[in-house]
Amino acid sequence: MSSVAKLPWDTKKPTLHEAAGFDVERVRADFPILQQKAHGHKLVYLDNAATSQKPKAMIDAIVHYYEHENANIHRGVHYLSEIATEEYENARKVVQEFLHAAHPSEIIFVRSTTEAINLVAQTYGRTHVGAGDEVLITAMEHHSNIVPWQLLCEEKGAKLQIAPINDKGELLLDEFEKLLRPGTKIVSLGHLSNALGTINPLAQIVRLAHAHGVPVLVDGAQAAPRLPLNVRELDCDFYAFSGHKAYGPTGIGILYGKLALLEKMPPYQGGGDMISSVTFEKTLYNKVPHKFEAGTPDMSGAVGLRAAIEYLNGLGMENIEKHEHELLAYATGKVSAIPGVRLIGTAKEKAGVLSFVMDGVHPHDIGTILDQDGIAIRTGHHCAQPLMDRFGVDATARASFGLYNTKEEIDALVQGIQKVQEVFA
Ligand code: ALA
Repeated sequence: MSSVAKLPWDTKKPTLHEAAGFDVERVRADFPILQQKAHGHKLVYLDNAATSQKPKAMIDAIVHYYEHENANIHRGVHYLSEIATEEYENARKVVQEFLHAAHPSEIIFVRSTTEAINLVAQTYGRTHVGAGDEVLITAMEHHSNIVPWQLLCEEKGAKLQIAPINDKGELLLDEFEKLLRPGTKIVSLGHLSNALGTINPLAQIVRLAHAHGVPVLVDGAQAAPRLPLNVRELDCDFYAFSGHKAYGPTGIGILYGKLALLEKMPPYQGGGDMISSVTFEKTLYNKVPHKFEAGTPDMSGAVGLRAAIEYLNGLGMENIEKHEHELLAYATGKVSAIPGVRLIGTAKEKAGVLSFVMDGVHPHDIGTILDQDGIAIRTGHHCAQPLMDRFGVDATARASFGLYNTKEEIDALVQGIQKVQEVFA
């Protein structure tokens, strides 16, 4: 393969931020969408758990890809195909380093966290889970970490077990351990709850599961944009996350899997690129990770995800974690002090998410009134209906923070909540 010229973002950007430390106003200037108004007001974007906004470096990387590099990968011998292939595989290496995975082949490009979980359920799950076996999840899972396992359990005659949580939204580890039984074939749980903000004690959970010989899949959709990650230290067997929540493009996600497991798993989808040879009698599959990447993949998405991760690396995940922790502590203090407002999710270890309900006001009304002042939050069940049932609510209002949010924006949220109360008084 020919060597590819260094591209503008190959220089580990943004060095500006590295030099200046974490300066939220400088960070905000990197996000074009944040400069616009909503309903004539300054946009206050507090819906980052749903999707995050995009730094210009990420947008530019995608434009550059389409203007200068686009071709199908792993197929052509021509100039552009070699460049596109190298960009795609370089993106895989950047994701590997981001997760501290041992090998680039442990990184599979998928569409989303949802697709990553379905992939594991339909390959590892279908191979290992049989009649009478159990799949263990928790009471705080997103639907995308419930339904794929329900489908599998229905097909196989297996049982979905649910590890309970306490009223703060913390996993009950003793109960979790009791549910690790001889028939348990896989544990699948979120790293950081999208609806509560709870950070699960993953290393401990993985140790418990492994002591019972059970592999662990982690839904990292909310953790990847917020916490420094190290899959080797966590020792989890699979880790999934989405590009679009991590300041990258929509339509691309990652499944990390330990190589030894991936190599034994059957393919997920059939098609081009996942094969090494095909006859009408028999197909031999490509090696990992290509075995799991059937068809033309999302090349521009991989390039964009790489740029997003390099942007995060430039800021430093520790700095991002610290900044969001300060925002959460500030918001928790302010919002919980408003009479008639109750927080849903008060775990000791939390990040990024503040869910609440208000006496006499439906969350959708809270969201609609805040929106009139340019404040974007999410309201509803947050794709976690069983969790809402656990807390006896059908919906919450949820503010979720990102690396560009400020305390002034939280003040605006608090004023907005007070206005909602005035409207409904
Ligand atoms: N899973 C996303 C959220 O929590 C969509 O809002």
